[in-house]
Amino acid sequence: MSSNNIILTGFMGSGKSTIGRRLAKELDTYFLDTDVLIETFENMKISDIFEKFGEEKFREMEKRCFEWIKKDVKNTVISVGGGLPVFVPEIKEAGVVIYLKVPFEDILKRMNKEEIKKRPLFQDIEKARELFEKRDKIYEKLADYIIENKDLNKTIEKIKEIMCK
Ligand code: S3P
Repeated sequence: MSSNNIILTGFMGSGKSTIGRRLAKELDTYFLDTDVLIETFENMKISDIFEKFGEEKFREMEKRCFEWIKKDVKNTVISVGGGLPVFVPEIKEAGVVIYLKVPFEDILKRMNKEEIKKRPLFQDIEKARELFEKRDKIYEKLADYIIENKDLNKTIEKIKEIMCK
């Protein structure tokens, strides 16, 4: 992959941003988070974007954000929003895709109230669980590598091993 990007996918709360930030530091490279980018472009929080414009508009923003990444971003660790691979299935065109897989019950244990509040699609736990079941297969299908993210340090080491191959 000529862009040398590492793209982290996974469900909300699976640790993409935490791992991405740490990984980028260890690889001495850059880090991007598509949610943060969109919030910066729009000067609005994701929850406000969903409330004011709706999910469809947010997906358009994600697509635009991905187009920019594909064209202009290189040598960067990128954490993408949990829905991005579903709505932008050509994700592999922008880098090596690594799915950080975490069981839904573990995600629930990790999420605190603040984390849930930020995420419009996590307001109803049963609906989030259904979404997880559907998406897990999509993440797997679109990934170059799947890592069971149980331990932050081990996950980072595994990604480094993959990238050094
Ligand atoms: C979403 C995940 C969120 C954010 C938005 C929608 C989703 O990102 O993009 O709330 O559809 O799964 P995180 O995966 O970083 O929580």
